[in-house]
Amino acid sequence: MVSVDNSRIHFEWFRNLIATSLVVALVTVGGITSVSARGTPEYDSARLQSLVDAAHAKYKGLKDGANANYIPILDTVPSDLFGVVIVTNDGKVFAAGDADYEFSIQSVAKPFTAALVMQQQGTDAIQEKIGVEPTGLPFNSKLALELLSARSVNPLVNAGAIASVSMVDATSERQRWKLVLDNLSGFAGAKLRLLDEIYQSEYSTSWSNRAIANLLFNYGRLYCEPEESLVVYTKQSSVGVTARQLGVMGATLSNNGVNPVTGERMLAEEHVPELLAVMLTAGFYDESGMWAYTAGLPAKTGVGGGIVAVVPGQMAIAAFSPRLSKAGNSIRAMKAIQDISVELGASIFLGH
Ligand code: DON
Repeated sequence: MVSVDNSRIHFEWFRNLIATSLVVALVTVGGITSVSARGTPEYDSARLQSLVDAAHAKYKGLKDGANANYIPILDTVPSDLFGVVIVTNDGKVFAAGDADYEFSIQSVAKPFTAALVMQQQGTDAIQEKIGVEPTGLPFNSKLALELLSARSVNPLVNAGAIASVSMVDATSERQRWKLVLDNLSGFAGAKLRLLDEIYQSEYSTSWSNRAIANLLFNYGRLYCEPEESLVVYTKQSSVGVTARQLGVMGATLSNNGVNPVTGERMLAEEHVPELLAVMLTAGFYDESGMWAYTAGLPAKTGVGGGIVAVVPGQMAIAAFSPRLSKAGNSIRAMKAIQDISVELGASIFLGH
């Protein structure tokens, strides 16, 4: 029988640690096995793959909720599509199911356009010209806009997102759209495109968002012409993305603003916590409290069925499935991400 001298192993491990001058937080999320000499987490790949596989298997039979139908074409997307993805800060991807199906990004675009505004205009612009308060109301609420003095309220509800688009530094609608699309592509590490059929279906039925743009303009809380902001906002919602690409977008935030696949810096490090704070408090609209309580992660949802959640400093968890809750959040995607977060002990409120 081979005997192992544990005290010796511990001593040598400690000596190596000191020799590489590392300050290491030993307990991190459960899928991380160690920290390399450069301070980069090293992941237990088999465990992360088994987590996405298990979440996919557990919820693929769940039929609760319904496709969005207020945008007619979204009702025609096959409801059973379901993809689950983890992207780590070193750019590794773990995927299960329909991770490469291209769907419309919808409101998941909102924090990334807010990031562009932060990049262009600095730290106070979002707070002063839009606001950062959660509304506790649906994403398209006109009541919030009338009741609350900030009007646009926060960049993740429609009013604040339309205001974000209007704040992008641009001299024409064409340039505004190009900047928004290039920015989303930079976060995804891929050249994203407009899904024109989605755009036509949404723009031709955009009466509610047109009302919001006009109200904002009336209150001096819109920073370009209302129709220009509406067109670019609706195009941004109609950008095609896959769950895998959403994962990379989220991992750019977990990686402190640098895309882990391309190495491109998309957001200054100091703005990342500000953006994640708004994602935590408002990313799920009137389900944001439930989401913070159950998953404990900053995240953003879209009525196309996508959700991306950020585990700061570690990874992103993304999922896609078209059937939504009443608040407009994908039910399967929520459940898959909640499970993975709990399994990993990834909640930002856990004391490690
Ligand atoms: O403004 C809209 O109605 C859509 N383009 C985006 C809404 C959305 O995705 C809400 N999120 N869950």
